Parts: sequence; C-alpha cells; structure tokens
Amino acid sequence: MCGIVGYIGRNDAKEILLKGLEKLEYRGYDSAGIAVQNNEGIHVFKEKGRIADLRSVVDDNVLGNTGIGHTRWATHGVPSKVNAHPHQSTTERLTLVHNGVIENYSILKREYLEGVQLKSETDTEVIVQLLEKFVNEGNSVEDAFRQTLTLLKGSYAIALLDKENDETIFVAKNKSPLLVGLGEEFNVVASDAMAMLQVTDQFVELMDKEMVIVTKEKVTIKTLEGTVVERDPYTAELDASDIEKGTYPHYMLKEIDEQPAVMRKIVQSYRNDDGSLSVDEDIIGAMNEADRIYIIAAGTSYHAGLVGKQFIEKMAKIPVEVHVASEFSYNMPILSEKPLFIFISQSGETADSRAVLVQIKEFGYKALTVTNVPGSTLSREADYTLLLHAGPEIAVASTKAYTAQLAVLAILASVTAASKGIEIDFDLTQELGIVANAMDVLCDAKEEFEEIARNFLSTTRNCFFIGRALDYYVGLEGSLKLKEISYIQAEGFAGGELKHGTIALIEEGTPIIAISTQEHVNLSIRGNVKEVVARGANPCIISMKGLNEEEDSFVLPEVHELLTPLVSVVPLQLISYYAALHRDCDVDKPRNLAKSVTVE
Ligand code: G6P
Repeated sequence: MCGIVGYIGRNDAKEILLKGLEKLEYRGYDSAGIAVQNNEGIHVFKEKGRIADLRSVVDDNVLGNTGIGHTRWATHGVPSKVNAHPHQSTTERLTLVHNGVIENYSILKREYLEGVQLKSETDTEVIVQLLEKFVNEGNSVEDAFRQTLTLLKGSYAIALLDKENDETIFVAKNKSPLLVGLGEEFNVVASDAMAMLQVTDQFVELMDKEMVIVTKEKVTIKTLEGTVVERDPYTAELDASDIEKGTYPHYMLKEIDEQPAVMRKIVQSYRNDDGSLSVDEDIIGAMNEADRIYIIAAGTSYHAGLVGKQFIEKMAKIPVEVHVASEFSYNMPILSEKPLFIFISQSGETADSRAVLVQIKEFGYKALTVTNVPGSTLSREADYTLLLHAGPEIAVASTKAYTAQLAVLAILASVTAASKGIEIDFDLTQELGIVANAMDVLCDAKEEFEEIARNFLSTTRNCFFIGRALDYYVGLEGSLKLKEISYIQAEGFAGGELKHGTIALIEEGTPIIAISTQEHVNLSIRGNVKEVVARGANPCIISMKGLNEEEDSFVLPEVHELLTPLVSVVPLQLISYYAALHRDCDVDKPRNLAKSVTVE
C-alpha cells in the first residue's frame, strides 16, 4: 500500500511526480503529497483526498529538478493533511516519504526521541526525526540514514531529500516494493514501474536492506554494510496504452471486457509449437514430487485458489488445501511430507502471502507463485513463477486477474495430469477458446446486467449469493465484488448452508443471486431458491444453457462443466459494476481499499 515516486534530473520534477502518483493511486488514495527541491530549499504540498485534490494545492510557480511524492493508504493515523507524506524533521532539513509499517516505532520514539515534538500520528515521522538526531550528532546524511535503517523493524520503502544537498535522493527498501528507473541526465524512483513509464522503461530492482544514492547521473546501490552492489537494469515490458482507460468510463469495465482477449493470450503463451499446452518442466517436476499442495492467497486470489483446488484434484489427482494467507501462520495445518506451496497473487506483493512464503522457505519447502507481475516480490522469492499475462489490472476490484488465475491453474492441472499419464476427457485449449467466446457474448450483454443490477440491487441493503459445488466458490467471488464496490452487504453461501442460520436474514424482497451451472446439483440449488422465495426473497437465477428454466434471469452460453467459473463470474462482475454505478460509488477506487496490500 501507499505509492512512492521520486525524480532527479533536468526537468521540473513536479508534473512528473504528479503524473507518477496518478498511476500509483491504486495503491492508496486517502491523501497525497509531494516535495519539490530547488536551490532555495524544499517545498512541501500535501492534501487529504486524491491526487486531483493535491494538484489543487500545488503552487505552479515553484519549480525544482528534484522531488519525491506519495499517495497514502492510512495505517497509523487517520487520513488527513497532517498525516499525509512527505514528513519533515523539526528543522525541516530532512524530508521523506515512506511505504510500509515500522513495527517498533513507539519503542524508537521512547528510546531516542525524548523531547522531540512529533506533528503527526504516523510511524513515518519517527524515521525522519531519528535521521535528524543522527545528523545533529555529526553524521553525514548517508551515515545517519544507514544508522536509522539498522534500527527499523518492519517494512519500508523510503525516499529522502536533504535540504543541504539538492543533487541526491536517498532511497532504501525492506519488504516493501521499490524500483529505481534510469534515464539520460535523470533518474527516478517508483513503487511500480507503471508510474515512471512516462519517462523511462529501464529499471533496476532493489533488494531488501539495500540503500541507494540516486543522483541525476548515477545510481549507487549499497548494502547496509556499505558494500557497493552492481545490478543490470531490465526493460519494463509494459505498453503505456495498457495503463490508460482509453474510451472506457472506468478501468473495471475495460478490464472486464479484456477477459476474452486475456484467455486467448494465456492459451497462446502456454502453447508449444505443436499446439499442446506446456508449463516449465521444473514446475511440473515439483507438482509431481508433491504429495499435497497448499494454496496460499488473499481476497479474490483466495477465491481463485478454491476453484484451482478443484482443477488440480480433478485433473492431476493431487490433494490440495487452500488457505487464507493471513491465517496460515497461526492455524498451520500438519503439513504433509512433501508439500508444494502455490502462492496466488495478482500483484505479487501481498504482505500476508509473503509472510507465509518467508516462513515456508525457512522450513526448506518449494514454492510456486502464480502472479500477474513479473519481477514482483513473491515471484522473485519463490522457486518458480507462472505468469497470468493479463496485462496491468488497475481497478481495485480484481476481474481479469481472477479469470486469468483460473485459466493458468487449469493449464497447470492439465499439463501435470498429462505428465502423469492421466487422461483428461476434453481438450483444454479448445475449451478455453469456447470460454473466450462465451465471455465475448457476456460482455456484449451489458444492458441485461445493468437491468438486473437496477431491478435487484439499486436500493437493497443486503444481498446473498448461493451456489453449490463450483458455483459456491463463484458466489463467494461475486459477493466480494459486490461489497467491494457497491458497499451492499453481500455474502456468498453454499446453497445447503444458508438455511442453517443465515436464512433468518431473509426478508420481503431480499435479493438472492443463485448460480446454477452444475448438472449434478442443479435440482438441489433450485430447491434452495424455493426455500428462500417462500420467505419473501427476490431471486435472480443465473443458469447455464441446458440447465435453464423459464424463471431464470440470465442463461449463460454453454462451456465445459469444470470451466464454468471462468464464465459465470462475468455476469457477477458486471452486475456489481452497474450496482455500484447506480449507487454513485467510485467504482475504480472504492472507499477504504487499496489494490496492493503490502502491510500484514
Ligand atoms: C486486496 C485487494 C483485493 C485482492 C487482494 C489480494 O485486498 O483489494 O482485490 O484480491 O488484495 O491481492 P493479490 O494481489 O495478492 O491478488
């Protein structure tokens, strides 16, 4: 969470920083700020709210070739102008932005900063005050920075300016993502390459516990012990147009519409010259060696894991457990003898998942990351990576990454099955093509989903999703989508479970969205719908062609029964989108959320 940018070089930094922050707003958007440095000093502008609000307080007349910026998702202290970054030391010599959580900040404050008046409620201000204390004791800023970093416990990505040196940005990272970007007579800093594609596509990865001295000509990476580290840059393979909305009103709608193309791209990316699907043989080797697979994920990716378990168990016949990342460490199951861990994470940065990865690596277990972001922390730190090839997902509510996760997990399951000589009675390449075509049909039926959203959800305060077997997992994802962006209290239930308590909440008119794509449970789920209708519920049944009945609200084009989640989720995404629009919600940036959650 929180996004950081920095620029040092030949142009006015201000507009580059603001544009960069706009691209990082997905990381947090409750307040923002920039600091612009010139030979007169450092000028700080901050505001509660979005980057647009920050723009309105930035003084156009202040110019500078150096600067840092931050967009915040509050952890310590409410969203406010005072708590917004950058934060400054008492004398205003030092100014910094920080992403992460300093776990020992109150201990540091007590031990080192007695008598220092802090202005904000943030953990970050402790860092900048510590720095000033060490500078006041006669250290150079670089030494003071190093000394401060060795005291910090927790996660940080930091960019620091010194009023007395307008030719350097000091940078450091531990557990929170941060990159340095290279240009001619300028260099940049960013939490995500997307922010600085406007000026460069050459980036250098930073490792934990490194600090970096960035000038306009040079980038020097050092360990905290002072050893200089050489590292080649890589080219960020992102097309600037991938991160624009184009003619769409919202990124979410654009990303929903991209799903058929993503399906085709995934098939293309995982296809051999002979047309068969293939996955790196080391990964298949690790799958075959495992006696049990543990899927670890959060949010939407967790829901993808639940479906992924079915794919792997049904096709490759390997037992799978799926765990919520944030709970795994406390409720660790008794692990099998040869476990393989699969981390599913769109961003590849989720701190809860990373904490598990660090832990299981200590045990010596192997890990595979399924992610949309090459070079992300989870990708770098796992033994193997499978990429989603979904293109940047910018809307906070995940859509195309979810269906991409399902497709990639299906491919992994089928290639593993083939390697074990297990015969699958369908051609996955062909079936994913049928899925892509079905998605096209659904994306063309937007008006119908807008209508469903208007009829069922424009005034309701709650909504239940029910399904059985695979449909249950899709219901969980549908309910998460709806609550994330429309703020309607929504819950997904296994069709048979609703009556064991939650049915007490059904009132006259309560919307129930039922999904029925599985023949073996079609009659049972319809029975569950009858139970709630008898108690006044307003049912919206989404069924698959072949299982449909007259009262159904929408009939999905037919796809293979195991792959239905890839298709049945699309109406739920679109219904949530339109429900949020009808309720005037900020679809792409829902309240309180952030796309990349880099704090535990
Ligand atoms: C946040 C986002 C969710 C996302 C979850 C996991 O909570 O708001 O949309 O599903 O993180 O993110 P990941 O990047 O690990 O898939």
